[in-house]
Amino acid sequence: MMQRVKQVTAEDTALLEQITELERLCIPNPWSFEMFQLEAGRTGGIVLAALDENGDVSGFLTAQRVADTADINNVAVHPDKRRHSIGSALLAAFLELTQDCTQIFLEVRASNEAAIGLYKKHGFLAVGMRKRYYTNPVEDGILMQYGGTTC
Ligand SMILES: CC(C)(COP(=O)(O)OP(=O)(O)OC[C@H]1O[C@@H](n2cnc3c(N)ncnc32)[C@H](O)[C@@H]1OP(=O)(O)O)[C@@H](O)C(=O)NCCC(=O)NCCS
Repeated sequence: MMQRVKQVTAEDTALLEQITELERLCIPNPWSFEMFQLEAGRTGGIVLAALDENGDVSGFLTAQRVADTADINNVAVHPDKRRHSIGSALLAAFLELTQDCTQIFLEVRASNEAAIGLYKKHGFLAVGMRKRYYTNPVEDGILMQYGGTTC
């Protein structure tokens, strides 16, 4: 599947609407359009969209940067388009954008094998556990760090 990754701005309302819709399909506590728009416009906020050959959103990644540290909030790919390296393309574009960051972190649900597999493939390692980090349903979070060492 041909994909292009684009950094989304607060003005890209059509893309932000598609991202909001896709998130609703993918996760239990979805962000609103306004939250995505705020993130895209905020200093340090990162919203990346994977676009197919028609320019439609097939996946997205949100993250934030503060000084030398970056945190990935979420990565999601359309259910019909998974296992076609779209998540990988988003992660690779994010890592290129944050090359100069000294620390990159994320949290992931302990049961989310697909996401954990994706992050491991791209150089993230589990460095800690956050007990009952998630709600709906309640679940532990695994803290992962890019290029980190296990503790
Ligand atoms: C996690 C997610 C973004 C992966 O996207 P994707 O485009 O399917 O991922 P890719 O095709 O780039 O896969 C890259 C690697 O991730 C791992 N992976 C992806 N899906 C997997 C699965 N279902 N089971 C196990 N490993 C998986 C594999 O190591 C894979 O490499 P491989 O294809 O060479 O085996 C996608 O499954 C998704 O949207 N899940 C729902 C939302 C979500 O849970 N997001 C994470 C929140 S922190």
